[in-house]
Amino acid sequence: MSVDNTMNDIFIQQPTSYWIASTSETTYSSLEKDIEADVAIVGGGMVGITCAYLLKKEGFKVAVIEADRIVQGTSAKTTAKITSQHGLIYEKIKSQMGEEKAKQYADANESAIHMIAKLVKEKSIDCDFEWQPAYVFTQEDKYVEKIMNEAKTASDLGIQASYLEEIPLPFPVKAAVRFDHQAQFHPRKYLLSLAKEIPGAGCHIFEMTRAVDIQEGAPYKIITDKDIKITAPRVVIASHYPFCNLRGLYAARIYVERSYILAAKVKEEFPQGMFINAENPTRSLRSQKYKNDRLVLFAGEHHKTGQGANTIHHYKNLKDFAQQNYTVEDIPYRWSAQDCMTLDDIPYVGLYTSDTPDLYVATGFGKWGMTNSTVSAMMIKDMIVKGSSPWEPVYSPSRFTPVASAKNFIVENANVAKELIEGKLIPVPDELDIQNGEAKVIGIEGKKVGAYRDEEGKLHLVDTTCTHLGCELHWNAAERSWDCPCHGSRFTYDGQIAEGPALHPLKKLFQQQNQ
Ligand code: FES
Repeated sequence: MSVDNTMNDIFIQQPTSYWIASTSETTYSSLEKDIEADVAIVGGGMVGITCAYLLKKEGFKVAVIEADRIVQGTSAKTTAKITSQHGLIYEKIKSQMGEEKAKQYADANESAIHMIAKLVKEKSIDCDFEWQPAYVFTQEDKYVEKIMNEAKTASDLGIQASYLEEIPLPFPVKAAVRFDHQAQFHPRKYLLSLAKEIPGAGCHIFEMTRAVDIQEGAPYKIITDKDIKITAPRVVIASHYPFCNLRGLYAARIYVERSYILAAKVKEEFPQGMFINAENPTRSLRSQKYKNDRLVLFAGEHHKTGQGANTIHHYKNLKDFAQQNYTVEDIPYRWSAQDCMTLDDIPYVGLYTSDTPDLYVATGFGKWGMTNSTVSAMMIKDMIVKGSSPWEPVYSPSRFTPVASAKNFIVENANVAKELIEGKLIPVPDELDIQNGEAKVIGIEGKKVGAYRDEEGKLHLVDTTCTHLGCELHWNAAERSWDCPCHGSRFTYDGQIAEGPALHPLKKLFQQQNQ
C-alpha cells in the first residue's frame, strides 16, 4: 500500500486528539448530593482547573463541576502554544482601545507564560514543556507593513519582539515578527497533573455533572441535571461558551469557529519555533515530542461552526499544504477544535455583568486559550482574593469598543438570524437512500429529521432543531456530528451534547435496525 493510501485511512477513522490519545481518561466521581463551597467553578478545562488550583492555595474551598470528563474540550484540542503573540493583536488593541490597554494585554499574557513555567517547575510536571520562539509570518505584500508595525508596538509594550525577513521554514516569506521566550507543552499532561492537586481540604472535582441553571442570590445556587445543588457565595463560569443565559447578551456577543489539526511525521527536521501566518487561509505549525521522534502539527482552515463546506476537505487542504512543504511519512492523528470568538477579539473575563456581584465569567479566547485561560484564572483569583486585577479594563465583559464591536455585532447577528430563517426553509428530500457512515436531512411527517446510518447499518434519527435557541443543525461529516451555525452547539450523531451552549440533548425520533 502506498504511503498516501495509508494516510487516507486517517480520514476514514474518527478524529482523535493526540493530547487525549496519549493520556489516561480521568475517573472523578459525579456529584450525588447537595453541597456548599466557597467558590463553585462550572467547567473543568484550563480556566476551571487553573483557577481552582490557585484559589485552593489561597485557602478557599472550591468545587469544580464538569459536564463530561475534565480537560476533554477545547483545552484538549488546541495547538497548545503558550504565547503572548496572538496574531497581529497589539496594533489592533492600541488603535481601538489605546496604548494602556494594549500594555495590560501584553503584561497579562507574558505573566501567564511565566505562571505556567513556574507551576511546571514547582510541581515538576512532566508535560513536554519547551521554551520556543513564536513567529507570525506573511507571504503577501499587503501584510508587510502591518507586521513591521506589530513588531514595533509589541517591543514598545515590553515584549521581546523583532522584525525579520526570513524564517526557518521551507518556503519564502515577505516578512515576519518573532517573539522570544515563548513556550509550548502537552496541555493534558500539564492540566491533569494540576487537577490532582485540587481534591482534599474541602475541595472537589466532580465529573459527569452538568450545570443547567443558576439561581441568583447571595449565595448563588448552581442546579445540575440531576437537580442537585451547589450553594456558593462566588461562582466562576468557565464552561467555554457560558452555560447560562442570565443577562449580558453573550449569545449576541460570541460567535463560534471550528479549525483543524493534523499531527504528521515528516522526514525533515523541524526547526525551533511556533509559526502562524497573518493571512487566510490560516497555516499554523509547531512540533511536538512523540515517542523518540517528533510530530509536526499543521493547523488552520477555520470556519464558523455548522457553516463549513464538506468538513473533510479542511483536513485534506492541510494534508496538501503539509505535503507541498515536507516529506510526510505518516499522519497518526487528526482532530478539530472549537473556539469562542468575541466581537473585538479580546476575551470577556471578569464580572459576568456589572450587576451580578461575585459571579465571574471567562470566555472568548479566540484560539489563544493557553495564555488567556491562565490570565483568566489569575485575574479571577485576584478579583476574589484582593478585590481587583490590574488587567480588568482590557478584559472587562462590560466593555464596549464601538469600532470593532458594532460592525461585528451586526454581521454576526445577521448571520444568526439568517440561519434561524433559512434552516427552516430548505426543501427536504424524502428518500432514505443512506449509505453506512452517511447522514442526510430527510422529511418525515412534515418534520426535518437528521438521519445517520452508522458503520453497522443502524439508523439514528434525531430532530435537527438545536435545543439551545432553535436554529437548524447542519451535518459535519468530518466529526460525524450535528453542528449549530448560530452559537456553535454540537451534538453526536445520536443526539448527545458534544459541545454547548445547549443544555439538552436532541430529541431522538426513533431508530430502525439494519434497513
Ligand atoms: Fe444557539 Fe444552536 S447554539 S441555537
